[in-house]
Amino acid sequence: MYLGIDLGTSSIKCLIIDDSQKVLNSSSTEFSLSTPQNGWAEQDPLLWIQGLTDCLNSISKKTNLKDVLAISFSGQMHGATCLDIDNNIIRPSILWNDTRSFAECQEMMLKNPNIMDITGNLAMPGFTAPKILWMKNHEPEYFNRIRKILLPKDYIRFYLSAEFYSDMSDASGTYWLNVGERKWSQELLDLCDLTIDQMPNLCEGTEQTGVVSKKISEQFGFSSNCKIYGGAGDNAAGAAGLGLFQEGDGSISLGTSGVIFTPTLKFKKNYQDATHSFCHCFPETWHLMTVMLSCTSNINWFSNTFKVSLESFFQSFEKNYNSNITQQPFYLPYLAGERTPINDPFIRGSFSNMGLQTSMDDLCYSVIEGISFAILDNYLSLEKTNLNLDNLYVIGGGSQNYSWLEMISTLLQKKLTLTEESSSMAALGAARLALVGYNQYPVDEILSKPNVIKTILPNSKNSEELIKRFHLWKKIYNQNKSIAQDINQS
Ligand code: XUL
Repeated sequence: MYLGIDLGTSSIKCLIIDDSQKVLNSSSTEFSLSTPQNGWAEQDPLLWIQGLTDCLNSISKKTNLKDVLAISFSGQMHGATCLDIDNNIIRPSILWNDTRSFAECQEMMLKNPNIMDITGNLAMPGFTAPKILWMKNHEPEYFNRIRKILLPKDYIRFYLSAEFYSDMSDASGTYWLNVGERKWSQELLDLCDLTIDQMPNLCEGTEQTGVVSKKISEQFGFSSNCKIYGGAGDNAAGAAGLGLFQEGDGSISLGTSGVIFTPTLKFKKNYQDATHSFCHCFPETWHLMTVMLSCTSNINWFSNTFKVSLESFFQSFEKNYNSNITQQPFYLPYLAGERTPINDPFIRGSFSNMGLQTSMDDLCYSVIEGISFAILDNYLSLEKTNLNLDNLYVIGGGSQNYSWLEMISTLLQKKLTLTEESSSMAALGAARLALVGYNQYPVDEILSKPNVIKTILPNSKNSEELIKRFHLWKKIYNQNKSIAQDINQS
């Protein structure tokens, strides 16, 4: 058996597969993030460990963890998790959707304009390096204590095995990696006054990084020879779950973040539009992706704030989706600022065009429509890299509403495919990485695509009106852009 551990932003999931890649057992635990200031997002790594402990205890009621041959990981990317000389956590982890370090991004790009070519990316506040530079500028007492900087899932690896490693896909999101050459870049580390010793070792997603420690094997009942493998950032892990490693393959993840992902066989880039260019979790493979900071988090925010259950939220959306959409309000889904394509940390969410007639149904519709417009906006930047994706696999917690999927398919004019395990794809990908690593299987032979449940095709009804509304929606952002910083910092 193989165990995949997926450390998300709102939950951690453990999933067990057998040699035939069948899911045997899984368990997940939820946690929250803290937002001490507007634009900040932090999490205490001890919450991750508590969640992991609960999941493993629950899994072990049905599965003997002694039979787990190998473990691997998927993780929310970019979070700066800093350890001191005694391996104590210095401060809460600053997460991927925290935008406090915009000034530090400008500082880095101004000091060394080469960095965009080394990393293939713009310096964006989501990445780890500007967060650490922010600590250097604002919390020097913490910065000076840093002995190691780990990414969230790599902190879990450290907890399980006492080893410091990161895989190439996740390490790409630090902004200290030479992404084309798959090694740490001293030039980038210099910009943050850091040394290579402060980085974890690098590995590929299917490489072994150690075994579980004695303490952990005794606590949870793992065999003392249970091996640990590299793993991946959550989006690359989702692609491993789907079996996406060829050019022309693509996926849309509708999770807390919204991501369009496509593998590339060379290091390609389009950083002008804030498209991300990272290593894939397989050797000599890369990927491009676009990232929306708030996807289903808009829905959860709306549902919690206005006390509307998710079920009635989607019923309200569908009611309007199936009728005339002309007079609906518009929604900008930028609750935490945005990365692709606008790289704007100051913009926030807003409704426009509300009238006395506007109802709860209308607001629910416009939230989903606004998220879908942002997905189209992301796709248009990815398309500029000349990749033609005919079929996109949909994964993530938001992949279960067919009307929403049809709206996305209509906007993108693409076929969407939904498979088994679409909501747990990153955890499945992590377990598959453990299986491939342990058995040294060739990736292209073993990572087949999961069974298809449904394909979704564009619908001509409403398509013209939707595109007209998309262009108006873009104008709403463009009009708001110039005042976003003033409003945000007032
Ligand atoms: C990717 C990114 C997000 C997080 C969320 O660059 O920031 O997808 O990994 O989990």
